[in-house]
Formats: sequence, C-alpha cells, structure tokens
Amino acid sequence: MSSIKEQLFSEVAECDASSNNKVTVVGIGQVGMACAFSILTQNVSSDLALIDVAADKLQGELMDLQHGSAFIKNAKIQASTDFSVSAGSRLCIITAGARQRPGESRLDLVQRNTDIFKGIIPKLVEYSPNTILLVVSNPVDILTYVAWKLSGLPKNRVIGSGTNLDSSRFRFLMSQRLNIAPTSCHGWIIGEHGDSSVPVWSGVNVAGVRLRELNPDVGTDSDTEKWCELHSEVVNSAYEVIKLKGYTSWAIGLSCASLASSILRNTNNVHAVSTLVNQGEHGIKEEVYLSLPCVLTANGVSHIVKQILTDSETVQLQKSAALMQQVQLGIKW
Ligand SMILES: NC(=O)c1ccc[n+]([C@@H]2O[C@H](COP(=O)([O-])OP(=O)(O)OC[C@H]3O[C@@H](n4cnc5c(N)ncnc54)[C@H](O)[C@@H]3O)[C@@H](O)[C@H]2O)c1
Repeated sequence: MSSIKEQLFSEVAECDASSNNKVTVVGIGQVGMACAFSILTQNVSSDLALIDVAADKLQGELMDLQHGSAFIKNAKIQASTDFSVSAGSRLCIITAGARQRPGESRLDLVQRNTDIFKGIIPKLVEYSPNTILLVVSNPVDILTYVAWKLSGLPKNRVIGSGTNLDSSRFRFLMSQRLNIAPTSCHGWIIGEHGDSSVPVWSGVNVAGVRLRELNPDVGTDSDTEKWCELHSEVVNSAYEVIKLKGYTSWAIGLSCASLASSILRNTNNVHAVSTLVNQGEHGIKEEVYLSLPCVLTANGVSHIVKQILTDSETVQLQKSAALMQQVQLGIKW
C-alpha cells in the first residue's frame, strides 16, 4: 500500500528548499536566542541556523523553537555544532563568547573573545563567502575589527551592532521625560558601544525642534534640568541590568532584528552601527571600528552620514577612536 503522504499528494514540481533570507546565529546564549526569537517572531527571516559548541543546549533550543512553529510563519530552523549548517547565509550574527561579569568592563573581554573568533569567522566565510557579518559579542567595536581582519571581507560587509542599542536606550529615556513615543524622540549615540560613547546633544530633537535651541546648556553640566543624566544612564544601563538579572538580552535581540530587517529587506534605513572608519571621518586618523549613522542595504553599509558635530563632540569621538586603537594594538593575533 502506498504511504499516506503518497495518497495525499500528487507531485507537481520539486520544491525549492533555498531561501534568500537565511540568517545564522553563532552563540545561542541569552543574546543569541533573543536575536533568534526576535528575528523569527517579526518574520525577518524564514530560514534560521543556530550554531554553538554546546550540543545539548542547541538541540533543546532547536526543539523549543520548532514546537512554536504553528504560531509563526513555518520558518525553517536548523541547529548544529558544525558550521556547514550555516551554508548560504546572507547574514551571520555572532554573539558567541564570554560576557561581562558584574563590575567587569566590555574591554576586559577582548583577548578571550578574539581567541574564540579565530575558530568562528573563517568557517562562516568558508560556507557563506557572500555573507554579511553582524558582530554583537563584546567589546563589539574591537571584535568587529577582529572579524573584519579574520574574514578578509570588504568593510561594508562587516558590521558591529554598535550604538544602535545605546541610541534606543537614549530614546527610551528621552521618551520617559517627555511622555511621547521613543520613535518620536530623535537622538543619536555614536562612537564606542560602551563607556566612551558620545551623545550628539547638538542634534537631539522632537519634530525638528532642537532641545539645544530651547536650552543652550542641554547635555552639559550647567543645565539645571540635568538632561546629561540621560547619557550617564545609557552608559550605566547594561551594568545595572547585569547586576539585576545577570545579563542583557531582550533589547539587544530587538536591536539586531531591526538591523537584520534593514539588511535583508534592503531598506536603506539609517542606524548607528559600528563601521570601519578609515577615510578620515570627523578627523579620526586611526583605523578603527566605531558607530556612526550608516545607511544599511542588502550590501551592508552603503554610506556613512556626515553628521554635523560640535567641536566638543568631535573631540570626544576622536578620544573614543584613540582608546579603541590602544586596545587593538594589544591584541595577540
Ligand atoms: N553588543 C551589545 O550591545 C551586546 C549586548 C549584550 C551582550 N553582548 C555580548 O554578547 C555576548 C554573549 O552574551 P550572552 O549573555 O549571550 O552570553 P552567554 O554566556 O549566555 O552565551 C554565550 C554563548 O556562546 C557560546 N560559545 C562560546 N564559545 C563558542 C564558540 N567557540 N563557538 C560557538 N559558540 C560559542 C556559549 O556556549 C554560549 O552558549 C557577550 O560577549 C556579551 O558581552 C553584546
């Protein structure tokens, strides 16, 4: 007797198993799974591969996601410790590696995570030579530089999640003060994702009304309303969340899904992401990765927005670049 499947269907053509939106997530810890979940539930990709060194955890996460398939749009989900599962990815998101322990800075993680990247990046490129790499592991700017060096890919296709998250944190805090939606609050945090990030106070606005025109001191120590506290809260927020729940996950997962969406859907949206600065942008002389507002396309970063910064913002950015290079020089390749 023929099988139920044979009795149920008459074949018209072989199905095409390929997709043009495959995403691989390397590292399925708190951050990797938050990225995967956001990408799946927002229908950013219908083809997801998960990679980690922990085989049992991979299998458990795979089954748990697959059991939810009936509630999303039947995405294909695979998981393996073998990098061949990533073949043909348009985007690889790297979240593997050590995370900060309470009190530890992002820069403390450099060498540990560089060594992990040596085993990851060449394999991703081997299986997906046309991929875009999106680095999330910390310290993200330095590790994006490491990924760029290890990958041999052009700079437009190696991106760090950077201050897309810091800018989102800033807009949230601004929205709380003004009681309007974060999407209506316009403010950019650029530079290092971390302690030396730069808030571009000169451009912070609502509906084109710049806060600095209403109060020339906004963002400075002389401001009686202490708007500058928003930036210190942004810088401290990861430390605070890690102290309270042990790690950060949801916001970075959503931030990466929004970057993945702009890339896979070729939207030309502008995001603050970490990009290679080696054309003298803002007078920076070092070859470093730093966040600047970038146009994201199917080919990665197509343009960097030339933001008009004040002298003091430019100096802060240059200091951030010098710090990055100092750390880069200490890396053991
Ligand atoms: N850029 C950002 O805004 C941002 C935000 C939050 C966290 N992070 C960073 O993301 C990273 C991950 O954080 P987390 O909380 O998910 O950590 P986690 O410890 O929960 O997960 C890390 C995962 O990486 C895996 N891993 C380790 N070595 C590997 C290898 N060689 N190959 C494949 N997988 C490997 C581990 O098995 C683990 O599953 C950290 O570096 C953290 O600092 C970045």
